[in-house]
Amino acid sequence: MTGENFRAMTQQLLVYVPPHPLVKHWLTVARDASTPSVLFRSAISELGRWLTYEAAREWLVTQDIMVQTPLTACPGTVIDTQVPIAVVPILRAGLGLLDGAQTVLPLAKIYHLGLVRNEETLEPSFYLNKLPEKFDPQTRVLITDPMLATGGSIMAAMAELIQRGVDPAFTRIVCVVAAPPALQKLNAAYPELTVYSATIDGEVNERGFIVPGLGDAGDRIFGT
Ligand code: PRP
Repeated sequence: MTGENFRAMTQQLLVYVPPHPLVKHWLTVARDASTPSVLFRSAISELGRWLTYEAAREWLVTQDIMVQTPLTACPGTVIDTQVPIAVVPILRAGLGLLDGAQTVLPLAKIYHLGLVRNEETLEPSFYLNKLPEKFDPQTRVLITDPMLATGGSIMAAMAELIQRGVDPAFTRIVCVVAAPPALQKLNAAYPELTVYSATIDGEVNERGFIVPGLGDAGDRIFGT
């Protein structure tokens, strides 16, 4: 059964955790508290690449064409460049996944969203919004953010995107660690959405950190 058939039956958010050795490897490197910043950045970038590769399945629009090989003509398939592709990194930590995503989606336009959680209330607030006024409703949107914890940040980002015409059915979230509170909120509001994550962790502690998680991804990427 395909993911979309499963969703049609259950009317629920789809969350994929690709069972790939490279995803498991780079997740474990990122979790390790002794991993230095330079290697942590590489690990997150690698996860951005492989999770975006997985997320592009059944998401990128293709076109069937005929191609002339050196010997004869045969049918082929190419990416339909008429359908816009957008990547939305949620700053700061989402920048860590961006270059990996760009290696897979070199034609994507990048729209930055700066969001920070208040350390006490955990409420997110915007400090940068480079989204266009209106998206083409066909746009394939990929959001990058390594952590989905309480879900406040991703819900705020989704609300901004929906208001600008983005279709959640054409939206993919690429993250590293997803936690139940965020997934429950996304499921309740956007059951057509699809999430690709290196893992799902069980808990968010009282400080808003995912446990076991990987610490503060933004601080570890930028060495702050
Ligand atoms: C972290 C993380 C997510 C958010 C997740 O960012 O990168 O964006 O928190 O938490 P939530 O699901 O509870 O909203 P943070 O606000 O620490 O900013 P940073 O990326 O600049 O470190």
